[in-house]
Amino acid sequence: MAYGADQPLDTPPVTDWVNDWDWLDDGWGENAIDIWNSVREQCPVGSTERYGRAFMPVTMDAVRQIANDTDNFSSIWVNVSRPDAPRAAAPPITSDPPDHHGHRRLILPAFNPKAIASLEGELRHFCRELIGKLDGLDATDAALNYTQHIPVHGICIVTGLPEEDADLFRDWIYKNFQLAPKDNRIRLEVLTEMTHYIDGLLKDRLKNPKDDLLTMIANAEIDGKDVPWDIKVGYIRLQIVAGIDTTWSAIGSGIWHFAQHNDEVKRLVAVDNDHMLWQTANEEVLRYYAPVTMARKVIGETEVSGCPMRPGEQTLVTFPAANHDPAAFEDAHIFNLERENNRHVAFGLGIHRCAGSNLARLEMIVAFQEWLRAFPNYSLDPNKKTTWANGQVRGPRQLPVLLNR
Ligand code: HEM
Repeated sequence: MAYGADQPLDTPPVTDWVNDWDWLDDGWGENAIDIWNSVREQCPVGSTERYGRAFMPVTMDAVRQIANDTDNFSSIWVNVSRPDAPRAAAPPITSDPPDHHGHRRLILPAFNPKAIASLEGELRHFCRELIGKLDGLDATDAALNYTQHIPVHGICIVTGLPEEDADLFRDWIYKNFQLAPKDNRIRLEVLTEMTHYIDGLLKDRLKNPKDDLLTMIANAEIDGKDVPWDIKVGYIRLQIVAGIDTTWSAIGSGIWHFAQHNDEVKRLVAVDNDHMLWQTANEEVLRYYAPVTMARKVIGETEVSGCPMRPGEQTLVTFPAANHDPAAFEDAHIFNLERENNRHVAFGLGIHRCAGSNLARLEMIVAFQEWLRAFPNYSLDPNKKTTWANGQVRGPRQLPVLLNR
């Protein structure tokens, strides 16, 4: 394997997911759930040497232990990458106690339940417009023409980011998550481009304030002290990388699932939008198809489920794998539209639990309601292939469907 700082890692296909896992392997995106289930039958924590030594916990116990232990696991590295990768702060997700609390307190109000609930009408209108553009078509790519647009619209309303730059955001996200963990040059390129772009937006808001999160961040103080500029840039960097392909993936996975379960679609469209069945279905999509796997840098000598970990090593926090642990969920392998007590960890757990979960849940449920009601008989296109994103955020990126009106 190449380790020159300027060369991308050159990695062969994975044949042993227990001792040599790789979340950027071509097999990961489509087969991740089977991979985690198979590793779990053999041991609670897989490992690899591809990015230096790095672990892959697959049980709820192991994932919970890591997420809750900020003494031994730092968020300074939240993506398993080559150890010499350039990194930039994107708080609160990249910060540890005691700093984390102030950063989180600053951004949380923008995502409070009342503020988010008020966006429902606009999001519904937006989904209907996207569906309207499919008028007269028998088939479409639901990822390209539907799922990818909804979260960008949501995040742009909340933050004030310009929606016309959506392609740029998605390009950065693709490079950042799919290519950068193995390629320092690409990571640096994305970091630099994003910094430059966000710097411009924040400076503009200092001169031309608006009623949005960008303006609030441009002027942000914590405990009466101005927040350093690179941290302000980091807050916005996080909004872009955390708020778009995450929900895009969750909506896409749900649309992919329901395309193959017309019986479930029939049950859902038969009830009103405020019926509990929509809520439980939304939560089960989150459990079963949880898109986000995080990571930590090991900073203390410790042990997880019998697996020793040492400072400088890395570990995934495989929330999606924990959601399939039969020790944590009855019939974990079954997608149950009415699952009760669904204590999934799709949004993480502990101090870093997702700040955008209200927005994500709303975007998902509205997107499902509008799509399933518009196309209650849609199905996957048997002549074309769904493609899945690998790595940190997993979900369909091409999703060809027949609309079967
Ligand atoms: C279905 C969609 C989403 C999923 C599955 C998801 C998942 C997660 C997870 C697992 C974490 C924990 C990170 C960790 O432990 O290191 C997290 C944190 C975070 N998420 Fe989300 N997320 C979603 C959507 C969003 C949206 C729409 C936003 C809005 C910008 C957002 C903003 C954040 C932020 C700011 C944090 C960091 C919180 C902290 O460190 O205190 N997320 N998310």
